[in-house]
Amino acid sequence: MPEPKKTSPQKTPKEGGQSIQSENNTLGSSRAKKSDDSPSKPIRPRKPKSKPGSPKTNPQVSPAIKRTRTVLDLMQLKGKQSIVGLTAYDALLGRLVSDAGVDFILVGDSVGTTSLGFPTTIPVTIKDMIHHTAAVRRSSPDCLLVADLPFGEASLSFDRLLESARSLMQVGGADAVKIEGGKDVADDIEKLVATGIPVLGHIGLLPQTVKAIGGYRKFGTEREEAENLYTDAISLEEAGCFAVIGEMIEEKVASELAKQILPPFIGIGSGENCDGQILVTTDLLGLSNGHIPSFVNPRLNLNKEISSALSGYVRDLKNKKISK
Ligand code: KIV
Repeated sequence: MPEPKKTSPQKTPKEGGQSIQSENNTLGSSRAKKSDDSPSKPIRPRKPKSKPGSPKTNPQVSPAIKRTRTVLDLMQLKGKQSIVGLTAYDALLGRLVSDAGVDFILVGDSVGTTSLGFPTTIPVTIKDMIHHTAAVRRSSPDCLLVADLPFGEASLSFDRLLESARSLMQVGGADAVKIEGGKDVADDIEKLVATGIPVLGHIGLLPQTVKAIGGYRKFGTEREEAENLYTDAISLEEAGCFAVIGEMIEEKVASELAKQILPPFIGIGSGENCDGQILVTTDLLGLSNGHIPSFVNPRLNLNKEISSALSGYVRDLKNKKISK
């Protein structure tokens, strides 16, 4: 693995006075007071683009529920209601997910394993990501849309990273980008944010490093790793991430991280006490090619339903007598 970059002294929580306090990885509470200085500028409510009852509106989504359209809307949900994100990879899934009333859609590089037939997310390219992001955007014009920066993009030059993030927004139509990594990528994230690119952070299990870490596992069960996660989360907050995803993080550590950082901390396989949850939609629907992670409670078994509908159709036609 590449040698991690050194962060500036004022950014490391240990030197800034924050620390992990208890034996069981529970994090210190010294940052909790910061939630008082959450974004102070009032945000003008935006008028919904489509009226209730128009073709774009799903009647199952209550009109009383305000749609999350911007990253600022999303940030303001922290402490008020649980944030819900789901992945989508094409126009069909994008429309269904958007109509379900999610707060944001992620075009994850999980497109590689869910839709492109790869064993990991590593082969996914920026071209793939732009193509799939644009498809989701076409069917979900009003939803807050985040696109993943694929493997390698954040470890090349900053110009390359900027160019890739820019294309996901300008060509793919994303509202924001997601980058895997903590303090090692925080400086680049800070520069992206300064150019006007909203960034969603991602710490804990980083699927793009699966070859280096030797498989999928829980993070933060050991004290040192919990402290590193805390440093990562704070670095991303300071870099200006509008939210941070925490994947496969030990439940108590995830719960503390959600309390300690100002941006929403959105969990996946990290317990219930995060500010919100994100899942791979095909896992939730039982439509995944391979293994569904144990933390997912699938709502359907679409693999089974679709297989039985398709094979029934083929069987019925094959059994039909052809009259000449
Ligand atoms: O690529 C993806 O779908 C993700 C989620 C698992 C958070 O990164």
